[in-house]
Amino acid sequence: MTQSIQSLFNITEPSPMQRVNAKWTQFDDGKQCSMQQERVENASHQVELWCKRDDLLHPIISGNKWRKLLKPLTDFRQDPPNHVLSFGGPYSNHLHALAYCCYRLNIKFTAIIRGAYLSKQTLNPTLSDLKAWNTNLIYVDKQTYQRKSEVEYLQQLRHQLDVDTVIPEGGSQQDALLGMKYMLEEIALVSADKKFDAIILPVGSGASMAGIVKGCDNSITNEVIGIGVLNGKGYLEGLVSQFLGQEKHQTSYLPWRIEHDFHFGGYAKTTPELDAFCYTFNQQQITEFSTAAPENHNIDTPIVIEPVYSGKCFYAVKSLIQRAYFAPNSRILVIHTGGMQGARAYQHTPV
Ligand SMILES: Cc1ncc(COP(=O)(O)O)c(C=O)c1O
Repeated sequence: MTQSIQSLFNITEPSPMQRVNAKWTQFDDGKQCSMQQERVENASHQVELWCKRDDLLHPIISGNKWRKLLKPLTDFRQDPPNHVLSFGGPYSNHLHALAYCCYRLNIKFTAIIRGAYLSKQTLNPTLSDLKAWNTNLIYVDKQTYQRKSEVEYLQQLRHQLDVDTVIPEGGSQQDALLGMKYMLEEIALVSADKKFDAIILPVGSGASMAGIVKGCDNSITNEVIGIGVLNGKGYLEGLVSQFLGQEKHQTSYLPWRIEHDFHFGGYAKTTPELDAFCYTFNQQQITEFSTAAPENHNIDTPIVIEPVYSGKCFYAVKSLIQRAYFAPNSRILVIHTGGMQGARAYQHTPV
């Protein structure tokens, strides 16, 4: 019998669910509660914050990369392609994961990279990994890259490079939604008796969020909230709707919406405030872990975030809690979609 794709890559499924004990899970709701006639105080509340540690699925194919690539990789096992082509920026988590998978499956892989990085003398850590995994790197300028979904351009690439399989940027295609459904099944198994009030995740191309909305019902959560990591009000909703194959306000799916206040200037942009938040969050996690009882060590490992995806997501969660968006004692689940490899070239700024 053929080995499953999960065991071939040594994937740690199901990924753990972990409670997040940050101080900012407490909030005042602004309503004054009269303890005694002469003393009036703000009411202090807490939400129960959980994290689905998809970042721990695999050291390289982590987070939503594994979920989004699950279907194509399963197909590759049954019917191996000769030559796979995909697209991404020079720090792309998707290219990194796919390059590794193709290398392990002995499939030729070409990556079309956005930007003129050829002129750089040293490759960044993402690109040097790709090189080490025998990826054929092709650098194109931003205008050419814009054509990444054009039928004519794709046909030209297929023909020139003798490619038989093209996977879109970010692995974002209809097939990607299936892996997200499996993640929800893992969540449903461990939270059968207690559902969540909201599931929250970062949104770039919208495929991961669409997979969650499509695979969810109201026994798992009341709503799904996406955190836009780029400046894309309306645009991101359009992408998610396209993957869902229907208009946002049709009622067959759970309520979902995207927050647009937390992109910090755009995709991969950051600010000293976001950097400081990530830095402090990571430090507190490491401290908490190092002082935790040893018996908790095998289930809880420190959560580490970076400013492109998980940092913006956790920052947004903190802000929503502080704005009393959630009712007291709500159960909130953040999906850690991985992506730590892209942050290797990035220096955290201490507070
Ligand atoms: C680590 C990480 N998190 C979140 C996302 C956003 O996912 P999606 O593009 O499916 O919206 C990406 C991009 O694919 C990513 O690399």
